[in-house]
Amino acid sequence: MTSTPAFSLRLPRIMGHRGAKALAPENTLASIKAAAEAGVRWVEFDVMLTADGVPVLFHDETLKRTTGASGAMAAAPFAQVRTLDASHGFGSKYGLRAERGFRGRADCRVPSLEETVACLLDLNLTPNVEIKPTPGLAEKTAEVTIKQLRALWPDDRPPPLISSFQWDALAVAKDLAPGWPRGLLAEDCPQDWRAAMATYDCASLHLHWRRTRKPDVAQVKAAGYAVAVYTVNGVRAGRRLLDKGVDCLITDRPDRFPESL
Ligand code: G3P
Ligand code: MG
Repeated sequence: MTSTPAFSLRLPRIMGHRGAKALAPENTLASIKAAAEAGVRWVEFDVMLTADGVPVLFHDETLKRTTGASGAMAAAPFAQVRTLDASHGFGSKYGLRAERGFRGRADCRVPSLEETVACLLDLNLTPNVEIKPTPGLAEKTAEVTIKQLRALWPDDRPPPLISSFQWDALAVAKDLAPGWPRGLLAEDCPQDWRAAMATYDCASLHLHWRRTRKPDVAQVKAAGYAVAVYTVNGVRAGRRLLDKGVDCLITDRPDRFPESL
């Protein structure tokens, strides 16, 4: 199968990862605000469903790492998730020692997608919404997330980019929001990238930054697609990737990367 992008996507050069994961607790409103303060216009975040099907910003299957609570997100109803502080364990890894300022803050709770949309609109940010399902729930997670986004996202704003490692989720996105761009997530450039990009009608391919090869970037771009890489936090590495032709660096440290990099 050959691939021809349905529409071209102009990605920013720099995009915050999980908001701005190194600057504030990941996947929280505080993190999204930190990304905006660092100057980016786009943010990536992960969306998962609670036990009762509420889409929230969350990365791991289990609650432990970011909230300190036990159990799985898929077993926790929203009313419980809402009480958790997502700043648990934040800070020391990055040497910024900022965690004390975040503990217990209202904007460090696990946010619903709905309140996140309000925050994004307020800050004039465009989201890269990564569908991050609990195993077995890719289609359901995509369906709930996209239906809610369709209801909340204004037509006069640049549409969200929908991305996922779970390509079934992209199929749902294509059905429910055909006019919104989709990003195919992979670690290495897939051998069958042309077929996959065509099947899910994707506008961009997102690769692991360490596994991104210049010839692959050249081919994917020549076919009309945008290329993003995750998660690059060093400026020299970022420059090398841009030199390889990568369009967009997804980073925990948007404060380090001027858009003019
Ligand atoms: O969307 C890019 C990146 O977020 C993918 O990896 O594990 O950080 O969601 P992860
Ligand atoms: Mg992600």
